[in-house]
Amino acid sequence: MIRSVVRGFGAALPKRVMTNRDIEDVVDTSDEWIVQRTGIRQRYVAGDDETTSSLGAAAARAALENAGLTPADIDLIICATSTPDNTFPATAVSIQNRLGMTHGFAFDVQAVCTGFVYAVTTADAYIRGGLAKRVLVIGAETFSRILDWNDRTTCVLFGDGAGALVLEASEGEGTTADRGVLTAHLRSDGSHKDKLYVDGGPSTTGTVGKLRMEGREVFKYAVGMITDVVVAAFEATGTTADDLDWLVPHQANRRIIEGSAKKLNIPVEKVVITVDLHGNTSAASIPLALATAAGDGRIKKGDLVMLEAMGGGFTWGAVLLRW
Ligand code: UT7
Repeated sequence: MIRSVVRGFGAALPKRVMTNRDIEDVVDTSDEWIVQRTGIRQRYVAGDDETTSSLGAAAARAALENAGLTPADIDLIICATSTPDNTFPATAVSIQNRLGMTHGFAFDVQAVCTGFVYAVTTADAYIRGGLAKRVLVIGAETFSRILDWNDRTTCVLFGDGAGALVLEASEGEGTTADRGVLTAHLRSDGSHKDKLYVDGGPSTTGTVGKLRMEGREVFKYAVGMITDVVVAAFEATGTTADDLDWLVPHQANRRIIEGSAKKLNIPVEKVVITVDLHGNTSAASIPLALATAAGDGRIKKGDLVMLEAMGGGFTWGAVLLRW
């Protein structure tokens, strides 16, 4: 059977780092509060010359180089983002243009913090369906642009960045020993849509709007939803937490990550945590974490890796893959 195998990975971050101390000058907060409640120590913030597509294209170039490929080898670009350069065209098309590609096709996926899990699942379906052979899957965000910098309950949490994978069609045996995506589980429940949203849009206010979140409400659902889809991925493949080499969660809050891992019996040593470095970069957080841990040699070829995320919508999902 055809599997979607990771052939390359890459990441890109804005030039400017903003530490918790820097944020103390913006709103009434403290490094202690932010570290204790979230685990975040710093985040990157895009400058005037940096956009979601510029970061996404830089991550894509890094992933192509890592894969030993060029844009000519790619036939599909999927970009997960909630902070597009423009309402349209899709940021994926702007990235395609920045890569100098005029062939193939490109589109965006919008599932907020679960965006990258949705995008990998979509890429896998295109590859297994024979519609694409090599896909650039990108998570790219500039959440700093939609933050209310007067609201300390949200502006301290988010950051900007991008990460990318090249997924490639490869023949597998149909067992969990295969490299590539082994199973994917996506969920959404729009009855929660007002707990984490942006208060503007082209069809409502005609403005971009700002991020609004009932943090405590989101927190309340996060661990349960994450464990639900991770368990579904284990059950679908007959694998267990013991088989797992790495859990690569969406990086929203260290307490949510550790709480989920504990409930799943996954020791914290097997969890990739980058929230301290990047803050919550929404759809970019998983590919940034993957690029960090694969780049420093933690994630190795053949490792069993679980991706999971939960966010606005609510949306949530998990992908189990062999690296
Ligand atoms: O990306 C996916 C979706 N997002 C998430 O997963 C986020 C989920 N939620 C969270 O991570 C947490 O709820 C937060 C980190 C947002 C907040 O942590 P919390 O432990 O739930 O704090 P809280 O909202 O209950 O607030 C506790 C106190 C409040 O003061 P009072 O009412 O107890 O006097 C807040 O006003 O902390 C205060 N507070 C702050 N203090 C200093 C809220 N924000 C700040 C701040 N600095 N930045």
